[in-house]
Amino acid sequence: MTLSWLRCRTPGVLALIVVMLSAAGAHAAHPRGVVGRNGAVASAEQQATAAGLEVLRAGGNAADAAVAVALALAVVHPQAGNLGGGGFAVVRFGDAAEALDFREVAPAGARASLYLDHKGRPVAERSREGGLAVGVPGSPTGLFELHRRYGKLPWRRVVRPALKLARDGFTVSSRLSEALRDHQERLRRYPETAAVWLPGGQVPRPGDRLRLPALAATLAAYAERGPEAISSGPVAAAVEVASRRYHGVLRAADMAAYRPVWRRVVEFELAGWKVASMPLPSSGGIILAESVAMLDRIDWMDLPRFGADRDHLLVEVWKRAYADRFRLGDPQTTEAGESELLAPPWLDRRARSIDPRRATPSQSVKPWPGRVARESKETTHLSVVDGDGNAVALTTTLNGSFGSGVMVAGAGFLLNDEMDDFAVAPGRPNMYGLVQGRANAVRPGRRMLSSMSPTVAWRGRNVLALGSPGGSRIPTATLQVLLNFLVDGDHLQEAVDRPRIHHQWLPDRIDVEPDALSPETEGRLRRMGHRVRVVASMGEVHAVCRMENGIVEGAADPRGPGSAGVVQRVPLPVPNSE
Ligand code: DON
Repeated sequence: MTLSWLRCRTPGVLALIVVMLSAAGAHAAHPRGVVGRNGAVASAEQQATAAGLEVLRAGGNAADAAVAVALALAVVHPQAGNLGGGGFAVVRFGDAAEALDFREVAPAGARASLYLDHKGRPVAERSREGGLAVGVPGSPTGLFELHRRYGKLPWRRVVRPALKLARDGFTVSSRLSEALRDHQERLRRYPETAAVWLPGGQVPRPGDRLRLPALAATLAAYAERGPEAISSGPVAAAVEVASRRYHGVLRAADMAAYRPVWRRVVEFELAGWKVASMPLPSSGGIILAESVAMLDRIDWMDLPRFGADRDHLLVEVWKRAYADRFRLGDPQTTEAGESELLAPPWLDRRARSIDPRRATPSQSVKPWPGRVARESKETTHLSVVDGDGNAVALTTTLNGSFGSGVMVAGAGFLLNDEMDDFAVAPGRPNMYGLVQGRANAVRPGRRMLSSMSPTVAWRGRNVLALGSPGGSRIPTATLQVLLNFLVDGDHLQEAVDRPRIHHQWLPDRIDVEPDALSPETEGRLRRMGHRVRVVASMGEVHAVCRMENGIVEGAADPRGPGSAGVVQRVPLPVPNSE
């Protein structure tokens, strides 16, 4: 058996990959990709990946495992894993792809004016920290709904691994210890938060064991009674107390009123694969689809893989797709959507405006005209595929690291700061430098626009699930991995590992990871009129795939300490063993 047969790879590039793997030595080049059978999980934390694998081995499917991983992340990765935040899942069960929106909404008492000073200027901290930053959490009902619709095992069984971690203790990772150290000043402003996460006033060290009894009690009630254990009764009351104490407008009634929504995915084709990603209130699926449609029109796929031509065109495409993002918001208030931005005449016009030799200044790229932009890693993405080829891509967040900093005392979970994803002052950049429009203004009950792009792709019985944290850089990171894997035939780990670039219309600048561009390519891009800035790293893509031969692979991004695992490992033969 050849080495490549035992890895997820796109058909049609087999010969090339055999040569590449034989030459490079898969173990040496990609020690972190994990290959096997009967299901794979990739997430930001080893203890969370283990929770998902445990549930798959117990007979659970991809939905059961995804919920188990998400809840375990709420314990071991509190920077982003959560009960007090929200997220999205794109799932494919059998032949149907669907999107679950459990994004936070603005509380009934939220008003745009609450985030402005008396002169009408935005006060950034109000949407990023403390009570006013908090949107109504969607995770408790959202995760339950994902399980209700698609899960196979009893609800209690999928909550069990997270409950055990909180009750019996878990190991503090280096990443958690560092994050607590970096954010301790902010967390100490909330004594209830510090009491849980800075026990005895100290930053827990890597390898320390922590028990979280209050969170364990919440999880135990959640396991017994489902989301009502959180959205009503004493926990919802405690949410209101925490919100009021830190000047927020979130109330117990908002918790009771929250509903997750199943939505139709944004679907498009790439290299013979069908790709499904997140619709509004995420901009992610539209940015991916619009980008791919423009790349198709300019024959990007036929250009030489490495060098300035492809990078230039990718950037030009993103400028235009992110300019159109300015028009997007909650499905009820958005000024444009798939029907406008993915309409062939608009895509033709956008593609025709691209100069293959010159950068178009962002100032002259106008949003769709219609009716009328320091990366934290603190969103987290997980991907699961089960032995039947069902797939879940789930991205969840508190927005900034540790969200608003506000802890629900007694219930043991942190509340998000998702209100900053609204255009608090239209036209002013948010935490991610995104310039957004009035379509995304603060309005009670509305969902704030997101960039999270959980994505599933399939061709025949081959399936891929992926996504990333990274704020505004999520769609571009996701697209580059899709292009590497589907178009250029990388195997999965390689597709995830490759250096990335990013452009988001405003600011008019290409962000590049070190080694993403050769000196020649960078020089050519500058001569074409691009500004280039080197940044440390972008995104943290966790991806899994299952190919029609039943082989599964999990790829965790080396940019973080994430972990991938498979239900049943298949040892990779040594390179060249035929
Ligand atoms: O929904 C969004 O687009 C943001 N709240 C995501 C935040 C994020 O990715 C933070 N981590 N890098």
